[in-house]
Amino acid sequence: MSDISPPLTLTSIQVLHQQLLQQLEQVSSLADLEKIRPDLTGKKSPLTHMLKMLGQLPPDARKELGGFLNKVREEVATKLEERFASLQQLALDQKLMQEKQDVSLPPRPETVGKIHPITQVIEEVTQIFAKMGFELAEGPDIEREYYNFTALNFPEDHPARQMHDTFYLPPAYLPPAHDGKELGAVLLRTHTSPVQIHAMRQSAPPLRVLAPGRTYRCDSDATHSPMFHQVEGLVVDKKIHMGHLKACVIDFCQSFFGVRHLKARFRPSYFPFTEPSAEMDIGCLRRDGKLKIGEGDDWLEILGCGMVHPNVLKMGGINPEEYQGFAFGIGIERLGMLKYGIPDLRAFYDSDARWLQHYGFSPFDKPSSRMGI
Ligand code: PHE
Repeated sequence: MSDISPPLTLTSIQVLHQQLLQQLEQVSSLADLEKIRPDLTGKKSPLTHMLKMLGQLPPDARKELGGFLNKVREEVATKLEERFASLQQLALDQKLMQEKQDVSLPPRPETVGKIHPITQVIEEVTQIFAKMGFELAEGPDIEREYYNFTALNFPEDHPARQMHDTFYLPPAYLPPAHDGKELGAVLLRTHTSPVQIHAMRQSAPPLRVLAPGRTYRCDSDATHSPMFHQVEGLVVDKKIHMGHLKACVIDFCQSFFGVRHLKARFRPSYFPFTEPSAEMDIGCLRRDGKLKIGEGDDWLEILGCGMVHPNVLKMGGINPEEYQGFAFGIGIERLGMLKYGIPDLRAFYDSDARWLQHYGFSPFDKPSSRMGI
């Protein structure tokens, strides 16, 4: 079209005008519009060509035809943009129609997902401690040696640092915000206890903190997984003593297992960050392949606990002359296995849909300490 130069007359302009408007009318997609755009208003379009030819006309004709031609050009340009906008809207409407979903369709019962027992147990535990006034806290999975060990009163080169079978990470994993050599190696936290330090440094006492989360140890067999879950509890206040600790964890176990009477014992133990330290066992009865919790002559180890070591309070910026505290750490998987009769630890992480259908929980149930009993 561009290389045939039509004579510049009123009629030829009118003909071109009609042609261009028709072209615009007929175009039915954004892609086609982009294809014809140069022919309509581009540098090599007939319209531009005619505008260039104006100079060759005598002044009167130039004025008359020039005015007309400019009006045509303006109209074509406006119509082009209008067409562009309406085609764009059309394309969007079509896309939305295609992507339409009927959200009122009920879910098919066979496709309802289940809540994983680990999530369920964490929610139940959180509920029970929330009623006692505990607040949730969190710490990073990738920790520094300082928070995982040093600030928790593990002496340098103490065998306990090896006892934890720690996964050390290359320094490339250094969290940029805490880059300081004095914080030591980068590792996957071996327990949730480092959250004690973070919590004490974050807020002044009194503290009631609960920190569920993932923990890691280089250990794998029928009863150990390299990744597992713990929940940490920490209470710091004035005049806190071992009686508070015992009442708190006994109350928790009664609530969690749904038993009114709970046989419990505290065995002396050792953790560098608590003094005295204890492990709590609860009574149980094994009969006919079933496990009854709360009474009987057998014992089940359920958690580690103790009074927060004065050095740890100091590391947390708290004066041990003024404040005391207690702490406890519970294994989530173990709680779930005992309460819901799950026999094998490894199945927790297999992502076997049949296992989850069997041991999982309905997403529509509100978690409570009474569930599953
Ligand atoms: N962090 C300890 C462990 O992983 C448990 C614990 C927590 C013990 C708090 C005492 C106090 O074994």
